[in-house]
Amino acid sequence: MDQDTLVRLAIWRLIMPEMRVLLAHIDEPGQDGIATYERNGGYKAIRKAFSSISPDNLSEMVKQSELRGRGGAGFVTGMKWGFIPKNQAVPKYLVCNCDESEPGTFKDRLLVEKDPHQLIEGIILASYAIGANHAFIYCRGEYFEPLVKLRAAVKEAKQLGYLGNNILGSEFNLDIIVHPGAGAYIAGEETALLNSLEGFRATPRLKPPFPAIAGLYRKPTIVNNVETLCNVVHIVNNGVEWFKAIGKPKNTGTKIFQISGHVQRPGCFEFPLGVSLREVIDIAGGLLPGRKFKACYPGGSSCALLTEGDIDISMDFESLSKRGTALGTASIIVMDDSADMVKVAHRLMQFYQNESCGKCTPCREGTRWVVQILSRIEQGKGTFEDLKVIVNVCDQMAATSFCPLAVGAAPPIVSAIKEFKGEFEAYIRKNPGANSLPKMPVSYPYL
Ligand SMILES: Cc1cc2nc3c(=O)[nH]c(=O)nc-3n(C[C@H](O)[C@H](O)[C@H](O)COP(=O)(O)O)c2cc1C
Ligand code: SF4
Repeated sequence: MDQDTLVRLAIWRLIMPEMRVLLAHIDEPGQDGIATYERNGGYKAIRKAFSSISPDNLSEMVKQSELRGRGGAGFVTGMKWGFIPKNQAVPKYLVCNCDESEPGTFKDRLLVEKDPHQLIEGIILASYAIGANHAFIYCRGEYFEPLVKLRAAVKEAKQLGYLGNNILGSEFNLDIIVHPGAGAYIAGEETALLNSLEGFRATPRLKPPFPAIAGLYRKPTIVNNVETLCNVVHIVNNGVEWFKAIGKPKNTGTKIFQISGHVQRPGCFEFPLGVSLREVIDIAGGLLPGRKFKACYPGGSSCALLTEGDIDISMDFESLSKRGTALGTASIIVMDDSADMVKVAHRLMQFYQNESCGKCTPCREGTRWVVQILSRIEQGKGTFEDLKVIVNVCDQMAATSFCPLAVGAAPPIVSAIKEFKGEFEAYIRKNPGANSLPKMPVSYPYL
């Protein structure tokens, strides 16, 4: 990276509270239309790719950029693309995951509502790299406006020759189909999504085979998140070194942090990966007047809590994993000292119970049991043994369930008990018979 670019990035970082790349034009009226998108440099990346970057080189660029998936798991995007079998004359598919149904998550909605062509350009690039001539956008069914915007944007792109046959005079053909989601959180899990796209019930498939080998219609398929695909546009426009200079090693680029809960200005804010939790809360206007930070879920609802002592933690994949939680989708749900952690745990487990697809017993029954126990505790009818039982059921659920939904259902509840055990015990003390039940043969060091 040349000196000028480094200086420019450093100055940008100093003067801009955020670093807006994906959200750069989000507030501009008309950015959802193709004319404004083009005026702001849109569809330059595909021109560049078709004229000077081969599909293999584009895949390699994305791999070198160290871009990690923004849909939750953080898998290296270029590496995933590399799993698509080469030299096989079979159809390949690109599927954009815009199901976005986890509590606290709302960044993809903003991207497709305000700047849908950025996503379309990212999809064209990704499809070109993996050799797909059909792409799908699986958009959450309840996202009425995004669905309308996406369909209009696909139509406009087709009219101007960015989609269809021989795009911009190249030999590359691509059609994009916008498909409404099936109204379930589990439909965002990539294999359940593929079942749903094929017209079946959205239940997860056994892996392996992974979608890159046998995905949609059992053909090689890449499933990527909206934000992941939007990043590809900027990697092509600005180069790999530019992208790698933002953020931290293994955590390159910017990230859209969604912040909700007890802050003054909830919303989406874009920062380089590695920004501190404090900075994100500050830009969201800080806590409500007179309130103290208590805890937050840093990566959507499927991760463990951070507490007061973590306020300066670096918001990146590695640091959060080291702390025993996860960056996930970077959806920060903030709770101040007015939050009741028993109610929080109860409400969240109700979500997982409702969203469990029912395919496997540990998740279908486990989520229901934990809801029943938490409900009992909240009503002042709990026992101290209940806390051990909850942790036991959560551990079993996470270890033995079929898909990651149940793995994600455990940490928000277990960490609430671990970090705020006193609050759970205070509810239990309301029960005069709290100690009268026989002890369970389980023991956990932190309980
Ligand atoms: C229950 C569940 C729901 C999910 N929902 C979404 C979603 O709405 N959007 C998304 O991109 N990924 C979601 N994922 C992750 C996807 O399975 C997959 O990892 C992701 O789409 C891959 O894209 P990426 O590599 O670009 O992150 C979900 C996973 C699980 C287990
Ligand atoms: S873990 Fe839950 S959501 Fe996943 S397959 Fe089993 S029942 Fe369905």
